[in-house]
Amino acid sequence: MVKSLRRVKIAGLSTYVPPKVLTNADLETLVDTTNEWILQRTGIKERHIVGPGVATSDLAKEAACGAIRQAGITAADLGFIAVGTTTPDTIFPSTACLLQHKLAASHAWGFDVGAACSGFVYAFTTAMQMVATGSTDHALAVGADVMSSIIDYTDRATCVLFGDGAGAVVLAAADDTEPAVIDFAHEIDGSGGPALCMPAGGSRMPASHETVDKRLHYVKQDGATVFKFAVRKTEEICRRILERNHFDPSQVDLFVSHQANRRIITAAADRLGLPESKVIINLEMYGNTTAATIPLALADAIRQGRLKKGDLVLLASVGAGFTVGAVLLRWSL
Ligand SMILES: CC(C)(COP(=O)(O)OP(=O)(O)OC[C@H]1O[C@@H](n2cnc3c(N)ncnc32)[C@H](O)[C@@H]1OP(=O)(O)O)[C@@H](O)C(=O)NCCC(=O)NCCS
Repeated sequence: MVKSLRRVKIAGLSTYVPPKVLTNADLETLVDTTNEWILQRTGIKERHIVGPGVATSDLAKEAACGAIRQAGITAADLGFIAVGTTTPDTIFPSTACLLQHKLAASHAWGFDVGAACSGFVYAFTTAMQMVATGSTDHALAVGADVMSSIIDYTDRATCVLFGDGAGAVVLAAADDTEPAVIDFAHEIDGSGGPALCMPAGGSRMPASHETVDKRLHYVKQDGATVFKFAVRKTEEICRRILERNHFDPSQVDLFVSHQANRRIITAAADRLGLPESKVIINLEMYGNTTAATIPLALADAIRQGRLKKGDLVLLASVGAGFTVGAVLLRWSL
């Protein structure tokens, strides 16, 4: 990173999931599936789902308030808000605007980041730049999704995978002695678009009776293609960011991957030579919450006593687009 930029640290982290739980047993009553199949093929036991009328900005607000409190600031101290989401409350206004208003973050500007499952990592990097350049002293990065709003609960290939949730971090300037973000590495590959998408509701195919009848406002996925790409790219991006910062994978204290499928995470970790003790997997409780998985995993790692100040932490994600992301940091909380 450029030397004249300020170093940036995580000053606060908080997460939120809605109280209602959708178990594998519940899904057995909706589609032709079994608890055994879901557990064996994905590692997921249950996921949290919003009630009627609850939207992404509502979950984001809960997470953001906790992160702001932990950072010891008020919402008025925020200069910037980035919200990674695939399920904004509305196409416009942005969820960042709605969140800014809910928080009364009177000095913040911001926008939504459309990067699907890399939403948190990309929002994090964007918000980090605002602090690094000195544009603001405190920036909020949020990953939040209400996936249940775009999941077809008659499609067994997708409905077992996803859940709702939110996570937020406050980023602040670090002094020379404090643990801080080290680097990030991102790439996108639009050739993967058709493998994971929601076909209708945008400018290509606006909502119509026909699009609704054909169930085109739901997640469509070629699971095997996404699976192979995710394993390959997670390893590749992690190796790249470690190598260029002169770290060996064995020096990583905690690997925090996007939580889509237990088999993707363990395959990538195996390829990197990371033992189970350095890998956090919590998708059994939440499923794939898209932009929220990484902060949810970080929060669980803290609860389990698996993160201490100064630890080398590697975040990694692959999402629809395709989007690929990695962030390397020294843990600062
Ligand atoms: C979706 C996923 C779990 C499917 O697992 P898989 O081992 O690849 O399973 P397959 O797609 O090969 O399907 C195997 C069989 O199980 C069936 N199946 C799919 N979902 C099922 C379910 N919920 N219950 C029971 N059977 C199911 C399929 O129909 C298929 O049956 P067939 O062989 O008769 O056609 C897996 O591909 C995956 O996780 N992909 C990546 C998903 C992802 O990460 N998405 C988000 C990216 S950020």
